[in-house]
Amino acid sequence: MLNRLGSLLLLGLAALARGQGLYKEADPIELYANKVGPFANPNEVYSFYSLPFCAPEDMEIRREDLGPLLKGDRPRKTLYDIHFRVPQTLKQLCKAKLSEADVKKFRQAIVDDYYFELMLDELPIWGYVGELETRAVLDTANATRYYLFTHLDFSIAYNADRVIEVNVSADPLQRVDLGQGGAREVSFSYSVRWQATDVAFGDRMSRYAQSSFLPQSFEIHWLSIINSFVLVLLLTGFLSIILMRVLKNDFSRYAAAEEEEEDEEETGWKLVHGDVFRLPPAFSAFCAYVGTGAQLLSLVFFMLVLAIMNMFYPGNRGSMNTAALVLYALTAGTAGFVSAHMFGRFYGPDGRWAWNLLLSATLFPVPLLCMFCFLNTIAILYESQAALPFGTIMVILVIWLLVTLPLTIIGGVLGRNTAKGREFTPPCRVNKIPREIPPIPWYRTPVCQVFMAGFLPFSAIYIELHYIFASVWGHKLYTLYGILFIAFVMLLIVTAFITIALTYFQLAIEDHRWWWRSLFSGGSTGFFVFAYCFFYYFGRSSMFGFMQTSFFFGYMLVASYAAFIMLGTIGFAFSFIFVRRIYSAVKCD
Ligand SMILES: *[C@@H]1O[C@H](CO)[C@@H](O)[C@H](O)[C@H]1NC(C)=O
Ligand SMILES: *[C@@H]1O[C@H](CO)[C@@H](O)[C@H](O)[C@H]1NC(C)=O
Repeated sequence: MLNRLGSLLLLGLAALARGQGLYKEADPIELYANKVGPFANPNEVYSFYSLPFCAPEDMEIRREDLGPLLKGDRPRKTLYDIHFRVPQTLKQLCKAKLSEADVKKFRQAIVDDYYFELMLDELPIWGYVGELETRAVLDTANATRYYLFTHLDFSIAYNADRVIEVNVSADPLQRVDLGQGGAREVSFSYSVRWQATDVAFGDRMSRYAQSSFLPQSFEIHWLSIINSFVLVLLLTGFLSIILMRVLKNDFSRYAAAEEEEEDEEETGWKLVHGDVFRLPPAFSAFCAYVGTGAQLLSLVFFMLVLAIMNMFYPGNRGSMNTAALVLYALTAGTAGFVSAHMFGRFYGPDGRWAWNLLLSATLFPVPLLCMFCFLNTIAILYESQAALPFGTIMVILVIWLLVTLPLTIIGGVLGRNTAKGREFTPPCRVNKIPREIPPIPWYRTPVCQVFMAGFLPFSAIYIELHYIFASVWGHKLYTLYGILFIAFVMLLIVTAFITIALTYFQLAIEDHRWWWRSLFSGGSTGFFVFAYCFFYYFGRSSMFGFMQTSFFFGYMLVASYAAFIMLGTIGFAFSFIFVRRIYSAVKCD
């Protein structure tokens, strides 16, 4: 086991060393073929040689570290013979004998808008496999042309003994129409041009930060982002002012009633003082949710800090996946600690705390694992490179077993021990028998309330969400991590306020089941995010096919679930502080 981790570390070092290519004139430079796939489907990537390109004998995959593997990178050698600073005019790569099935494969790839990714000295380069041309002719059967590009032109810039920049372009004059007929022979060729540049080696990745694939960087709608921020903050402000006034009224009313010492029938939230601190059903699971939420909050926080520190620059392949994996393992202690601590303080020392620990260790990982297995199976059936190799899965399992699980347990034991002797005493005594809940109008029912709760927080992040989706499920680059951080903080603030307000209104109509409700109200944004997926899929993206569709909805379901837990925790935590405060301020007997 340790061996594996050790070799993982070595692999990482090897990858670091590999990028530092120093070449002498005429030194060979290996060109790797990384993947091909439909441009619209970022996850549907296949081996370069799944298309009948000319392949070398040795198709072994170059060893990669965890990040690129998670991203679906599997570089294989190619036949391109490139030497440092040696120009090449029109060199033949090979004459490929394409069978009818091969031609069909290429044709389908051209229809699906396939692109390829090659790598030269760790620099990714992209191009299209072919192009589709539709002509306006009478004979409709012959109107579409399927052109396969057969000539690639590499233009490479160098500075002293380093490769700085690589461009690849397909020669539009050398293309083959695969429209008619079946088997044929196609000749592939390439050319290489070299030019000197004075860009420093350290800056060579910065061009990828500006545009990723084709010239399609974001046009940021600053105005709309600021607009939504201001609008949401204003609304939240109004809401809190109203709430303060109403609360002030309540307090003076209750105080007056006490002074007069009349046996006037009490109304409003004070009436349920004997019920609000009764622990909700399935309290162990409740604690586990709050613990998991705390862990996910810290995970997102650290990810954003890393992002602001520019750790996820575009050349750092798969760094975000690796960071998420490692940070999830390292923050696991939070889940165990918060869950066990809360359980211990509310429930006392004789609760079933092992069960509680088990719940906090599985609430999020198990759904994630199930989804991963399902999607990985689909990827394997599609023979896609998005399927993780067995070794990588083992490494992830080992990390879970050796880091995540022990940390959760240590956190849980610590949480339980620190809770000992510090049991929570509610400001009002809890009645033995729950109070009956009066009839509730339809717009105060749980479903309506939860729907209302998600509306405002969702509108705060709606615009950001579009950019995130376009970079995660498209080829755009996200660089505005500062803004994302602000949006995240705003989301938390708005969620807290909305949940507090809704909890107040709920208690005001003497409905005292607020524990789970506040969790759901806070987390309700997660439902909205998942609903937004449908809008994005059908309205904003051109993803297609069963594999990409299941990847998109599958992983978004897990992400929405994570958002639900995380924001639900915020909703509950702030509602709890609020409830404890208002009931400490009134005299209850
Ligand atoms: C389609 O067009 C090509 C090129 O113009 C021509 O060679 C071919 O004969 C046409 N095929 C049919 C079925 O009309
Ligand atoms: C690569 O393409 C870009 C954009 O077209 C151009 O600015 C740059 O000079 C090219 N670099 C090389 C080495 O050809």
